[in-house]
Amino acid sequence: MNGQLLQGKTAIVTGAASGMGKAIAKLFADQGAQVVLADLNKAAAQQVAQELPEGKGHAVQTDVADDQSVAAMIQETITAFGSIDVLVNCAGVPQAFTPIEELSLEQWDKIMSVNTKSIYLTARHVVPHMKAASKGSIINIASIAGIRARPGLNAYCASKGAAIMLSKALAIELAPNQIRVNVINPGPAETPMLGKFINGDEDQVEAGKKDIFISSVPMGMLIQPEDIAQAALYLASDLSKIVTGEVMNVDGGRGI
Ligand SMILES: NC(=O)c1ccc[n+]([C@@H]2O[C@H](COP(=O)([O-])OP(=O)(O)OC[C@H]3O[C@@H](n4cnc5c(N)ncnc54)[C@H](O)[C@@H]3O)[C@@H](O)[C@H]2O)c1
Repeated sequence: MNGQLLQGKTAIVTGAASGMGKAIAKLFADQGAQVVLADLNKAAAQQVAQELPEGKGHAVQTDVADDQSVAAMIQETITAFGSIDVLVNCAGVPQAFTPIEELSLEQWDKIMSVNTKSIYLTARHVVPHMKAASKGSIINIASIAGIRARPGLNAYCASKGAAIMLSKALAIELAPNQIRVNVINPGPAETPMLGKFINGDEDQVEAGKKDIFISSVPMGMLIQPEDIAQAALYLASDLSKIVTGEVMNVDGGRGI
């Protein structure tokens, strides 16, 4: 895609070492942004940073579920670039199909921490900078599972449903400060995460991708990370300057 829709902007992308976060980081840098790639997996985030146009990527090892780690990453961004225009909360963890009575406290806490608490933690540290600048765009990657439940994905659905409502609450709270908060709900997407929703060996996982996921998408295909990146580009750029509190399903019709 040609153009420089994000020229002069600084964007933080969590989960940028893989899948959708990686595609978002690449597209944002191609569109002129300085991108901070915040991921638990430092080596992979550095690798992606090296693939971006010269000087556009800055990898910071971050645990989005940890307050101190998030605070340090935001401070490092401010020190390096002076401002934060865009925050994309993309880091997330899946859940393999698990009956509720077998779901451990640890699994519940981890899924809620990485998928939901992270949005509170990043907002807590980014919003003061965005308020001072009277502008900003926060994009939260939730899931179609946040509006359409599936059996055995109890904690995951809850974490994404909460992410959507937290985003709307932040959108109404921060609108007077010209800070926009929007959500993208991906449908089943071709990333390393997809197979992790299915229990079993490799063959079962591959078969499950077709049977469970592709057949659940009315358009009959999996979503690509680049499809999510293009939606994120719209929400990050001034093309969407009056859009806030919106939940955009990028899902081939799965949410209908
Ligand atoms: N793949 C799908 O089918 C699908 C569908 C709907 C929504 N989503 C959501 O989209 C987002 C991106 O998923 P993906 O498919 O690209 O996954 P992915 O597994 O390819 O990438 C997730 C990234 O998040 C990072 N991460 C995990 N825990 C972290 C933590 N505590 N701190 C920092 N980074 C952490 C991982 O290291 C990884 O780089 C997630 O929020 C996911 O829940 C995915």
